Amino acid sequence: CGIVGYVGRRGAVDVVLDGLRRLEYRGYDSAGVALVHGGGLEVDKRAGKLANLEAALADHPLPESFCGIGHTRWATHGVPSDRNAHPHRSSDERIALIHNGIIENFGQLRAELEGEGIEFSSDTDTEVAAHLLGREYAVDGDLTEAMTRVCARLEGAFTLLAVAADDPDTVVGARRNSPLVVGLGEDEYFLASDVAAFIAYTTEAIELGQDQIVTIGREGVSIRGFDGVACEGKHFSVDWDIAAAEKGGFETFMRKEIHEQPAAVADTLRGRIDETGQIVLDEVRMSDQDFRDVDKVFIIACGTSYHAGMVTKYAIEHWTRIPCEVELASEFRYRDPVLDRSTLVIAISQSGETMDTLMAVRHAKDQKARVLSISNTVGSTIPRESDAVLYTRAGIEVAVASTKAFLTQLAACYLVGLHLAQVRGIKYADEVSAVLDELVAAPGKIAKVIEHLDPVRQMARDCAAAGTDRVLFIGRHVGYPVALEGALKLKELAYLHAEGFAAGELKHGPISLIEDGTPVIAIVPSPRGRSLLHDKIISNIQEVKARGAKVIAVCEEGDRITSAHADLVIETPASPTLLAPLLTAVPLQEFAAELATALGRDIDQPRNLAKSVTVE
Ligand code: G6P
Repeated sequence: CGIVGYVGRRGAVDVVLDGLRRLEYRGYDSAGVALVHGGGLEVDKRAGKLANLEAALADHPLPESFCGIGHTRWATHGVPSDRNAHPHRSSDERIALIHNGIIENFGQLRAELEGEGIEFSSDTDTEVAAHLLGREYAVDGDLTEAMTRVCARLEGAFTLLAVAADDPDTVVGARRNSPLVVGLGEDEYFLASDVAAFIAYTTEAIELGQDQIVTIGREGVSIRGFDGVACEGKHFSVDWDIAAAEKGGFETFMRKEIHEQPAAVADTLRGRIDETGQIVLDEVRMSDQDFRDVDKVFIIACGTSYHAGMVTKYAIEHWTRIPCEVELASEFRYRDPVLDRSTLVIAISQSGETMDTLMAVRHAKDQKARVLSISNTVGSTIPRESDAVLYTRAGIEVAVASTKAFLTQLAACYLVGLHLAQVRGIKYADEVSAVLDELVAAPGKIAKVIEHLDPVRQMARDCAAAGTDRVLFIGRHVGYPVALEGALKLKELAYLHAEGFAAGELKHGPISLIEDGTPVIAIVPSPRGRSLLHDKIISNIQEVKARGAKVIAVCEEGDRITSAHADLVIETPASPTLLAPLLTAVPLQEFAAELATALGRDIDQPRNLAKSVTVE
């Protein structure tokens, strides 16, 4: 899941390990390196955290080398183990190769290679590429040519990096569908799955296109297509601050990122609303007429981004009266959705690399729909393949579980919804300008929520101490996706059984989960305005209390009715119903983080999870 390659004047093992450390946030279950030196190729790889590999390398240091590759693996084919960890070697041991993605025709290739007498030493799909490359390299001793021939045989998604024992100055990479960027230093070059791996050394980079092969060596960088034709990459400078990738005084990245939310939301709104109250989305390359032509909206996303999409559905339908559906990206293309030129597909992806979402985007484009992506990662694949993009400006999010990216996705989605409403001139015009004022005020309110998280932390510690084994979250309207997100955070971080439900659905089944003392967290809408919604959730609170639940309510400050019914309340500042998720999601993030911490979990890198999932 994390890939690093290096050729230059520094000791390669240090640069590669440092790069892997900076990619740790992507999540992984094993790690390995391959280094080339004057006399050959050395490989070391270990299951578990990087510390295991580092300890092995400290016990058995590898010879000095200025050229190497390193990998952190997130298992797809074959359990996490030393033998399945990358790099994999060709059978003559002259080639070492690492891979990110899935080689879909690996079964057929494996059978072919086994037919030739090649013995496999792992259960991975990757090993076929190592053997194929070994076989091709033996033909002419040219690693780039050999890689070009190998890529022609592979199907699926892959980033590959390879080194050869008798070429101590060259790393060759190939990219199809999985990310790969080149770092340009002085007399040194880097390849990595993202720039975080090398920003400590250089901020100059090249973005590779689809189906390209890159060779880095002492003489520089060369790029060609899978068809062998030379091409140019796109240069860019990275403006991320290296300090941004450090913890900045917090114990964990997740805690730091929770606290960065007011600034992240403010940054995402900045410059996008002019003095006259019009939304200006310069980077969205769609004309007002394009927006007027839209007659249906689909939102596609995964995980936390999907929850941002669910909230957006309520907002878009209410403000614009355009039908809007939200769907898990992994399901979208398989059910043959009805799309055409006047359909707007909004793809939400923090990383911009999630394979499920990318494939859904491609399906939408094939069906001639317009695709607008909302992403936090400039230059990533999903924005590049979309017709338009609106970037969230959350900065780098390191913790695997998403927090500030979620809030900025909500802010960006609100902007898109309000923009659609403005250009189409709908009857809610007055409401839209009032909502804009509220949106601008949101960062200050989020900051207020964050200042008052102590009671939430206490509740979380109490739940941990009481040995709580399940927590239910209930909400209505936009409180429902917030309930789902609260439950997801708790599952991700604390490994507890947590479920989010539409509060009205409880009585249709899930209420049987309630026992004496079961914590139920209720997301309560404002008692003002839509009081019907408020009344209904109060009834739901009473239903669960009657069955022994301990109710923790997240409600608007001064909501006396809720305080009278709930066991505990967490108050948030008043806000219009549709914007409330910007506030109500925050205590749930902190609740999960604190409960997980009390249980001794690693909240920045929960087990089994990856930050960016580039397989389907
Ligand atoms: C992974 C992460 C989640 C994230 C989801 C979608 O599963 O662990 O936190 O919400 O991917 O990621 P994206 O980058 O597309 O928003």
